[in-house]
Amino acid sequence: MKFDAPMGDTPIDTGRVVGRPHARVDGPLKTTGRATYAAEWHDGLPGLLHGFIIPATIAKGTVTAIDTAKAKSAAGVVDVLTFENFDINGTANGKTVKLVGGPQVQHYHQALGVVIAETFEAARGAAALVKVDYEAEAGTFSLDGVRADAKVCGAFGGPGETRVGDFEAAFEAAEVQFDQEYRTAAHSPAMIEPFASIAQWEGDGLTLWTANQMIATTRSSMASMLQIDESRVHVLSPYIGGGFGAKLWAHADAILAALAARKTGRPVKVVMPRGLIFNNTINRPETIQRLRIGTHAGGTIEAFGHEGWSGNVEGGNPESTVLSSRSVYAGPNRLMADHMGHLDLPEGNAMRAPGDAVGSIAVEIAMDELAEKLGLDPIELRVMNDSQVDPSQPKKTFSNRHLVRCLQDGAERFGWSRRQAPGTRREGKSLVGMGVATAYRAALRSASGAAVRLETNGRITVETDMTDIGTGSYTILAQTAGEMLGVPVDRVDVRLGDSAFPKSAGSGGQWGASSSTSGLYVACVNLRREIAQRLSLDEERAEFEDGEVRSGNRVCSLLDAVADGPVSAEGKIDFGQSDTHAFGTFGAHFVEVGVDSYTGEVRVRRMLAVCSAGRILNPVSARSQVIGAMTMGVGAALSEKLVVDERYGCFINHDLALYEVPVHADIPHQDCVFLDDVDPHGNPMKAHGVGELGLCGVGGAIANAVYNATGHRLRKVPMVVEDILAGLPDPV
Ligand code: MOS
Repeated sequence: MKFDAPMGDTPIDTGRVVGRPHARVDGPLKTTGRATYAAEWHDGLPGLLHGFIIPATIAKGTVTAIDTAKAKSAAGVVDVLTFENFDINGTANGKTVKLVGGPQVQHYHQALGVVIAETFEAARGAAALVKVDYEAEAGTFSLDGVRADAKVCGAFGGPGETRVGDFEAAFEAAEVQFDQEYRTAAHSPAMIEPFASIAQWEGDGLTLWTANQMIATTRSSMASMLQIDESRVHVLSPYIGGGFGAKLWAHADAILAALAARKTGRPVKVVMPRGLIFNNTINRPETIQRLRIGTHAGGTIEAFGHEGWSGNVEGGNPESTVLSSRSVYAGPNRLMADHMGHLDLPEGNAMRAPGDAVGSIAVEIAMDELAEKLGLDPIELRVMNDSQVDPSQPKKTFSNRHLVRCLQDGAERFGWSRRQAPGTRREGKSLVGMGVATAYRAALRSASGAAVRLETNGRITVETDMTDIGTGSYTILAQTAGEMLGVPVDRVDVRLGDSAFPKSAGSGGQWGASSSTSGLYVACVNLRREIAQRLSLDEERAEFEDGEVRSGNRVCSLLDAVADGPVSAEGKIDFGQSDTHAFGTFGAHFVEVGVDSYTGEVRVRRMLAVCSAGRILNPVSARSQVIGAMTMGVGAALSEKLVVDERYGCFINHDLALYEVPVHADIPHQDCVFLDDVDPHGNPMKAHGVGELGLCGVGGAIANAVYNATGHRLRKVPMVVEDILAGLPDPV
């Protein structure tokens, strides 16, 4: 089905199953340890070997010698493979650096090879015996150092610079001019499940169990890197312990497991230890951002300028800080540009809401500062500059933009009217403040397919290579099939993450929920037709409810349709470009913090998000997405920062002891409210995703709350205790 016109009424609109707060169907498997993650496929793999990655310990230079003799003769070691022993064609789709380096080293902890042994411990021990000699070269590791040479550059194929009207002239002429710079730190996705792969060959066919968000992409990556036909690669990733973008692409564990298994003729598992993840894989780069906003005295924006600077490896993407600024606030004159400088740090790549997560921090602090300068309430300024058309493409209207309602509804619920002047509210030894921010993230759509089958026992089987990275895909897909076929969720078996199943949108860019359920919707429409035909019912009028198919005065059981065997159908959704509509998701974040007036320690006391994203397929899993994202935003605002050791060109805090990630328990009260809206223009489900929306703006809301508490403005995140203390009034 090509989706190119607004969706009329469908069985989904009845809302008997879809839109209900259904607990995760995979929850019991996960809480009892029976959901098999990539590293856990022990059964049926006799002779499983363990690989341990040999990482480079320089950031830039050449390997001059690599001595594996000692490692090879260590107890339990089966083989040692290095870049000298194999050829990998290119790199993984979506990645810039090679998954295995050598002799050229492209970044610190780049894999150079793998030690293969009977046990993990033997492999790890022997990896320490591999002696690598380097000719190191001086690298470039400081964003400040390369900023002057940074070039305008677009991310992921997008434009580097966009202009509307005449920004410079309008800014110059504006009655009120605001011009500030902000900084955000580099982040690591720091998901719970490390990267892990098990590879097994049968003849020239590879089976790869791996932790991955995009099965089809990884399958083609593996085929291309190994130079075998895609049909020879079978990728399985049914359960994933978080990805946040890092698992969009294949990494060193996948290719080294495949090469090691091919060489030894035995299955090989490679788990990336936590200490390698930060420098071996990808990160969200540090940014510097300049906001220039010119307004009328009353607050209407005339000129909106947002420029970002970040660094990355040659050929990589900049952090697309200005992405959302193209569309979020009104203003007839606009300049948006991202710049990239060359750095020899580990590769910067997609991490949850790439660009927007940190771009929105700068924009939302700027809007708070601007409101104060104008003498306006920060919500009033945002409401005044709302736009129902996309300001960067004024011919397009947002299909579903309820930002103002999110802000106003949230203000009411949060008690915004109790907010006081900066630095004036004390409770005991705490300074207390409130902050607000807009959340905006594009609603991307991506082609997606699925197969669905009515089994002879009346159960429904759904198969698609869609992934569930902790997001709830299993559940919303079960709900979709249940609604379409008139059965409860517990009669639907959803099978995901297998390249043998129809290709889906995969999990990324918060398009997964809406796209994958839309593909399944099409498959279910096709299955309904097949079932109606088998039952000789009028397919147009057939209603599927309570395990029955009803048409006119005839009522059949679903079981009547499978007397001669299962009935199956496939379906796929494709999306064209819309000339008339822009698609986005919107929200408002509210935060209350307490800042210890003696120590500068910040505690987030209350958080509220009000979100509008079309139909919410499952309020429980959507809420989990949003409050998880809010927690991630607390990290960006207060603790998460990859620290560069410029002597070695690495992130020195490459573990979870020193890279501090907050958890839900750090925040006593988090709430999330969804506006009750549907968007017939976006897709057949009339739904959009929320997994990235929940992160956009959070850091800004926290920074604004800290300012409101202390009266001291910080323009650099994370806001660490030293910076907060420096601005605190003398304790009284
Ligand atoms: Mo997301 S960073 O596209 O997984």
